[in-house]
Amino acid sequence: MNKKPKHVAIIMDGNGRWAQKHGKKRFLGHKKGAKVVKEIVEEATKNEIEFLTLFAFSTDNWSRPKDEVNLLMKLLVGSLKNEFKRIIDNNIRLCSIGNLDTLPDLVKDELMFVVEKTKTNSGMVLTLALNYGGKEEIVNALKSISNKVKNSIISPQDVDEFTLIEHLYSKNLPPVDLLIRTSGEERISNFLLWHIAYAELYFTRTLWPDFNKKDLEKALLNYSKRERRFGKTREQLDV
Ligand code: FPP
Repeated sequence: MNKKPKHVAIIMDGNGRWAQKHGKKRFLGHKKGAKVVKEIVEEATKNEIEFLTLFAFSTDNWSRPKDEVNLLMKLLVGSLKNEFKRIIDNNIRLCSIGNLDTLPDLVKDELMFVVEKTKTNSGMVLTLALNYGGKEEIVNALKSISNKVKNSIISPQDVDEFTLIEHLYSKNLPPVDLLIRTSGEERISNFLLWHIAYAELYFTRTLWPDFNKKDLEKALLNYSKRERRFGKTREQLDV
């Protein structure tokens, strides 16, 4: 039996469908979703989860209508500003993964400000995946490694799993123990491809704006009952 996952990752899905269900504009689904982020971060902290990683904006989300993208960016900046004090009070360390270069300056600046101010915090590591794509992350790592091999900084024989990890955006994150996806979709959608190799997957039909701390508790309880064998037999685990 596992007690508690060290690293929980969440694909927060269903904001649009929630809005549609309630006859509201899509943006209001995201707005309610941002409130849920606040509640879940608080609950994860209470549960002493060490790492919480949230898929906030994927590399594919740029193809959404321009207005929706702009509003999502504004929501992000607003949430970072509004939650800054709470993040500090809860000793949370904020990090990000993804390609920040093409994000609007306003988002980059606010993000970097909070990342810098919280870098010595020793509580939960909250990572926002922003302009993140798992395949891109691995390809970029391979490019850096190839360059180092070409320039004789690394010898090809020394390239192993750890070399790759060292070159990922998510190099400071441990493997994901529990991956939660809301809204009934049962897909990975290019999220944390390397780190989910042995993750336990938990899918719920609840739309993200309806997800609450009880739902997180349910997911954690479900996880605690799973047997993780990492390729071994049950008998080997009992030794
Ligand atoms: C997926 O729902 C959700 C997103 C693409 C964005 C997630 C953003 C938030 C929860 C709000 C702000 C985040 C932070 C970290 C403060 P969808 O729009 O794909 O829903 P649908 O599939 O029902 O259309």
